[in-house]
Amino acid sequence: MRNRYIIGNWKMNPETTAKAQELWGAVTNFARPSAGVRVVACPPHVYLGVLTPNKKIALGGQDCFWEKKGAYTGAISAAMLKELGCGYVIVGHSERREFFGEDDAAINKKVKAGLSAGLQVVVAIGEKIRNTFDEQGRHTNELDPIVGTQLVEALKGVSLKQAENLIITYEPVWAISKGNSSHVSATPNDVMIAVIFIRKLLSNLYSRALAERVPVLYGGSTNSKNLKSFLVDGSADGVLVGSASLKADEFLEMITIASEAS
Ligand code: PGA
Repeated sequence: MRNRYIIGNWKMNPETTAKAQELWGAVTNFARPSAGVRVVACPPHVYLGVLTPNKKIALGGQDCFWEKKGAYTGAISAAMLKELGCGYVIVGHSERREFFGEDDAAINKKVKAGLSAGLQVVVAIGEKIRNTFDEQGRHTNELDPIVGTQLVEALKGVSLKQAENLIITYEPVWAISKGNSSHVSATPNDVMIAVIFIRKLLSNLYSRALAERVPVLYGGSTNSKNLKSFLVDGSADGVLVGSASLKADEFLEMITIASEAS
C-alpha cells in the first residue's frame, strides 16, 4: 500500500512570521493523521527556520536552486532546505514556470539537486489550457501530450534508485485557483486519466514496480468537499493543496478525510 499525501503549498502566504507560526501551530496541535497519511506543509522559505517539523507534519520547500552554493543572488540550495528541517521540495510548479521563467532544463537540474540532497522531490507537471475537444465541442478523455514531455524532461538522468524518492503531482494549470472564481475544476475522471498516464510513463522510463511505488498526486482547487472523490474515484495518492492549506480547519479536515480513506 502506498501512503497518502496531503501537501500544503502556502505559496507567498501568510504575510507575517506570526501568522505563519499561528497556522503551523493550529495544524500541528490538532492534526490526527493515520499511519498511512503523510502531511507536509511548504511555507515560504523565510519562515522555515521558525517552524519545527514533528511526527505529524513534515516541512517542505517550494523551490530550490541546483547549485550547492555561490554567487546566485536570491537562490537557496536543496541542502539548505534540508538543514532547516525540510524533507521535501516542490519543483516545477506552474507558477515557477510562468512567473520565474523556469523551463524543463532548469526543472530537471532542480529535481536532481533535490534528490542528491536527500529530499523527496514533488515534481509538478500539467498543461496550461484544456484543449482536447471533440467535434461536438465536448472534452475528450485525452491528456495533453505536454504532460508527458514535462515529466520525461524533468526526469532526464534520474536513476532508478533516485526515482524512489519522487512524488509526481498532476496540476492542470486551468484547474488551479488563482483567487478568482472563473476557474474550472478538474473531475475525478480527469485525474484518473492523468494518474494512469503518469504511471505508464514511469513504467516505461523505469520499471513497473517503480511505477507502482511512486506516489502520484493531484493539485488544483482541492478542498475538504472534493478531496475524497479525487482519492477514491480519481485514484490519486494525495493532493497538493494551495489556498485550502491556508485555512487550518479546512486543512485539518482534509487530513482527517485522507486518513479515513486510507
Ligand atoms: P490551489 O493551488 O489548491 O489553490 O488551486 C494548488 C497549487 O497550485 O499547488
